[in-house]
Amino acid sequence: MHNLLGIRNMDKGVLDEIIKLAKLEKQIILQKKPMVQSLTGKRVVLLFYENSTRTRLSFELAAKLLGATVVHVAAQSSSVQKGESFLDTVKTMEAMKTDCIVVRHPVSGIMHTIEKATGVSLVNAGDGTNEHPTQGLLDLLTLQEYLGDLRGKKILIVGDIQHSRVARSDIWGLQLVGAKITVSGPRPWIPKDIASWGISYEDHVDHALHNCDAVIALRIQKERQDDNSAISWDDYNSLYGINDRIMASATSKPCILHPGPVNRGMELTSSIVDGSFSRITDQVLNGVAVRIAVLKMILGGYQ
Ligand code: CP
Repeated sequence: MHNLLGIRNMDKGVLDEIIKLAKLEKQIILQKKPMVQSLTGKRVVLLFYENSTRTRLSFELAAKLLGATVVHVAAQSSSVQKGESFLDTVKTMEAMKTDCIVVRHPVSGIMHTIEKATGVSLVNAGDGTNEHPTQGLLDLLTLQEYLGDLRGKKILIVGDIQHSRVARSDIWGLQLVGAKITVSGPRPWIPKDIASWGISYEDHVDHALHNCDAVIALRIQKERQDDNSAISWDDYNSLYGINDRIMASATSKPCILHPGPVNRGMELTSSIVDGSFSRITDQVLNGVAVRIAVLKMILGGYQ
């Protein structure tokens, strides 16, 4: 594996391998033993054009635990502010003999447009509304831990599907492993061609919750929404927010995931975030395990 740009066209064998390796890496993380320094001498740059806590920190932790040299570049304080293009920024890092660049960028598909122009390995840490593949992988790992084999399992994704790279990576990954997906959320936030994605839509989240095995609640992404798609937070919360009342009526008692950061009281009440159905802290830990597995696969750490 040279790059990780998305899950959409990923081979199922590769996806299964990443998750299998991440499960093993998680055991080592939990033991808190020193890790084999399999990436000693490797240079990893974290190039973030958007804010991040979980993704940036877990990539940095993963690379450092494996012995790599890690540098973080925040676009806000780099020569990007002087107008340097994304490709020139990547070329600059390539000239410094960087082995891998982990990129978060607001433009959908930007890494696909430059992958052939650079020999450096690229990892997508979230590009616009396109994909967030390591989030998709860590969500699959989290769901598998709770539900086992995901074939035929009913997964409900709630919220702003239209603007969500997490939703897309989750959907492509869940389809690869044979899960059944329903989405729910305000109509303006549902892609118009959703039926052609092979998934179903349910307007009423309480109906959708019946009989589902897991719920992935998405963050409301104000930064990607234009005024035409606006729905008030109060309306969203009353129609699609997940709370104790709705969960009490859900017959199958689904587990709850959220990629974070959570707008508490909006997508999920605090009682749900911190309650027994929540798998959110598992997701965070699994993020480190998945990113260790991905970096080792890309940088030759499994030889
Ligand atoms: N889930 C996620 O991408 O979170 P961050 O924006 O904090 O990295």
